[in-house]
Amino acid sequence: MKLLVLNGVNLNMTGRREKSVYGTQTLDDINREIAAFCKARGAECEFFQSNLEGELCTKIQESDADGIILNAGAFTHYSYALRDAIASVTTPVVEVHMSNVHAREEFRHKSVISEVCRGTILGFGKNSYILATESFLL
Ligand code: DQA
Repeated sequence: MKLLVLNGVNLNMTGRREKSVYGTQTLDDINREIAAFCKARGAECEFFQSNLEGELCTKIQESDADGIILNAGAFTHYSYALRDAIASVTTPVVEVHMSNVHAREEFRHKSVISEVCRGTILGFGKNSYILATESFLL
């Protein structure tokens, strides 16, 4: 089992931005924990973060992973390009958010990618990624 953990816009600021919402661990810290979890479960994982919408679309198109874990950041709420990229591949994608977007501003309540994702995990901080990883290993 090979997994791609994909993070979108502003997720590189994790640990430095809005700490009360996203925690104090950096994306590298979180990725290290996901990597250790995958290793313990005999899965391979690759990590990629970009602030550029098109780069994320290309990564989805070209991935040879068995599953993709995607935190698209704010692109979640308006990127039809990302939605189409997900719809264009057969690789299952699990949508992830660290925060409970439904308990936040109204513009975060809408995801334009949920419909084309296998499922969504949100609100569990960094453990949203771990739970999404687990969903591929069940
Ligand atoms: C986020 C939620 C989004 O609304 C926001 O734009 C982010 C992070 C989350 O992980 O909770 O950048 O995807």
